[in-house]
Amino acid sequence: IIAAFQPKTLAGKHVLITAGPTFEPIDPVRGITNLSSGKMGYAIAQAAWEAGAIVTLVSGPTALDTPYGVRRIQVQTAQQMHDAVMAQLNQSVQHRQDIFIAVAAVADWRIANASEQKLKKTSDSDVPQLQFAQNPDILAAVAALPDAPYCVGFAAESENLLQYGAAKRLKKNIPLLVGNIGHHTFGKDDNELVLFDEQGHTALPRADKQTLAQNLIAEIALRTSLI
Ligand code: CTP
Ligand code: CA
Repeated sequence: IIAAFQPKTLAGKHVLITAGPTFEPIDPVRGITNLSSGKMGYAIAQAAWEAGAIVTLVSGPTALDTPYGVRRIQVQTAQQMHDAVMAQLNQSVQHRQDIFIAVAAVADWRIANASEQKLKKTSDSDVPQLQFAQNPDILAAVAALPDAPYCVGFAAESENLLQYGAAKRLKKNIPLLVGNIGHHTFGKDDNELVLFDEQGHTALPRADKQTLAQNLIAEIALRTSLI
């Protein structure tokens, strides 16, 4: 209903989005995850569809419904999210992704020695010795592709947002990075965002995630219509 009143600023564009947390197994019944609710990524997927885009959402485990009009691929681990994203980018030219928005809170590490069987509690002194391995950096991998889509990253920082945000955009080699203060956003319905691009930084004023998503999509449409 609302969609009819949105300007179709992304008409016909293919937009690929990651959202939610990842879940990294320790054993068949346990794992490591984080507090991402997926709300921001899902709101962005919805706003992109409202703006006329063909939207694919690669999502970690969340309690959210698939946004209307959006194709959702559900994954658990960072490796699965990476593989699903790469599979979408390897499609035919007709399905070429124009824009990639990495909103997922991807686990930086997985358990290298995850157990095939449920770990058993034996004695008080005998605790599991978990080892970690680094997960692929999905956003950096996409940005490094020869024919990369326009890449947008998200960064939840707990301090020094202006400094870390600008540095992270350069490190990931992406045109646009969206920053927020981590513990103010996870699971919340509203948020405040700072956009970092090659011009510097600008703030999107505090609003509910749906409004922020629409404003962010407008900013992305503005920037991608020029390239
Ligand atoms: N990201 C990703 N794959 C990863 C890690 C992060 O695609 N394995 C993406 C996130 O979706 C986000 C951006 O990279 O868009 C920044 O994530 P963040 O965790 O802030 O950056 P890191 O490079 O992992 O740095 P940090 O040490 O601060 O966690
Ligand atoms: Ca990280």
